Amino acid sequence: MRLRRVLAVVALVLLPFVLAAAAILGVLFARQGGFEPYRVPHGAGRTVPSDAATLARGEYLARLGNCTACHTVRGGAPLAGGRAFATGIGTIYSTNLTPDPQHGIGDWSAEEFAHVMRHGVSRRGVLYPVFPYAHFANVADQDLDALYAWLRAQPASDFVPPPNRMEPPADSRLALIGWRMLYFRPDEAAAKPDDRGRYLVDGLGHCAMCHSTRGERGSLPPEGYMAGGSIPGIGWYAPPLDSVQLQRYSDEQLADYLRNGSSEHGSAYGPMAEVVYSSLRWLTPDDALAMARHLKRSAPRLARAEVPVAQAAAEGKGADVYARACADCHGKNGEGEPGAYPALRDAVAVTAPDPINAVRMVLYGGMPVTTAGNPQPHSMPPFVQQLDSGEIAAVVNHIRRSWGGRDSRLTAEDVDAMHGIVID
Ligand code: HEC
Ligand code: HEC
Ligand code: HEC
Repeated sequence: MRLRRVLAVVALVLLPFVLAAAAILGVLFARQGGFEPYRVPHGAGRTVPSDAATLARGEYLARLGNCTACHTVRGGAPLAGGRAFATGIGTIYSTNLTPDPQHGIGDWSAEEFAHVMRHGVSRRGVLYPVFPYAHFANVADQDLDALYAWLRAQPASDFVPPPNRMEPPADSRLALIGWRMLYFRPDEAAAKPDDRGRYLVDGLGHCAMCHSTRGERGSLPPEGYMAGGSIPGIGWYAPPLDSVQLQRYSDEQLADYLRNGSSEHGSAYGPMAEVVYSSLRWLTPDDALAMARHLKRSAPRLARAEVPVAQAAAEGKGADVYARACADCHGKNGEGEPGAYPALRDAVAVTAPDPINAVRMVLYGGMPVTTAGNPQPHSMPPFVQQLDSGEIAAVVNHIRRSWGGRDSRLTAEDVDAMHGIVID
């Protein structure tokens, strides 16, 4: 009797907490989209046009979305998946998008495809956000149909990508519902196709995926939008695309940079070179200009710490290494050689908050992408064998202090550590 009464009292006391917890979970669940994302449509669907014009549009859109680059392993069948993405908590492999009915998306309807692109949930369950569905959610129906038609017209492959290797609890697709509740907010105000620049930048172009500062557990909070970010797993830094960074470019110069991978302010390298090569070089001049205008118009105004340029940088070991190994190409005062070697004065790697790109360039050198607008790029040799880690730290400190406004204090150990995390 007494026990029952005690239990009743305990239950009464706990009830408000249980209700409050349920209410919070309910709100979080509603904010990630409610039940809708989990109702994946199956079975036969409507017929989608697949005439030559639709296929050509689908191919163009697939290039903008960079589907093939992410869904193809080096040397493997195009779109058959298997490319590995290293994250802090394991490795995810892209899937087979070819029309193979068993291993690809051969038996998907247009509705199912559109659902997966919009909501990031497929018949396999909730997808990892390495697949940029948060960005693809704004893609218009007509464009999704064209993408679908184009994918269905590609050669089928029965390749089976390796299974993901994630650490618990992230290895469970159910746990991803929890992640979505905490971090994923479908963007209701997503760009409409008539705002072409924004539609491409925030949509298929998924620029913010690399250029934003990530929050906890790989999330992309709104305040980090285009604020610059370290790219998980591969040791590169994507600079902020804010008003300070982009003011160096006119609209036309920025459009040219996107299509050609080069400009008088430097060329695209690392992951950005890949984006130019497999995606942006296919942009029509109109689309490139629309994207450039949008990027400049909406560039966030981020507070930047002003670091006084160190006068002392002109002397010392870093300056000696620079004069010996770098000045021939980049000029005595970092002015570069127009059309051949980039100026270091306003170069991304020199001004970026994170020194990793500069260290990487010196270690491994670089070769800009060959594009129609930059048919014979000049390259930078690797210095990994020529300079020791102390010399590399000194020369990177020198260029960043002299011309980047960065109080750079790298040591030989820092350079060794960066050497260690770099993955091709
Ligand atoms: C940044 C790399 C990246 C890009 C770009 C990308 N994908 Fe993916 N995609 C992935 C990864 C990784 C997965 C697997 C996610 C998982 O297993 O949870 C995936 C999964 C998918 C799926 C789910 C497949 C299934 O069987 O569940 C579809 C559909 C898809 N992508 C289509 C596309 C299309 C279409 C494009 C281009 C418009 C595209 N992806 C661009 C990386 C990418
Ligand atoms: C896979 C990651 C990744 C994606 C996706 C990506 N970028 Fe980049 N981007 C980088 C990295 C890394 C750099 C720094 C290296 C360099 O300057 O080439 C960079 C550099 C740039 C620069 C040079 C900035 C400057 O100050 O000169 C611009 C402009 C740029 N990206 C625009 C874009 C746009 C627009 C998109 C979307 C269409 C995009 N990026 C998508 C990784 C990425
Ligand atoms: C033979 C000519 C040459 C020499 C020598 C050379 N570079 Fe470069 N450097 C280049 C070229 C070309 C690029 C553009 C490479 C690319 O985009 O892939 C470049 C790019 C860079 C960048 C990236 C610029 C950006 O846009 O962010 C940095 C930093 C850099 N070099 C520093 C150095 C330093 C430090 C040295 C000396 C240790 C050096 N370079 C020696 C030709 C050279």
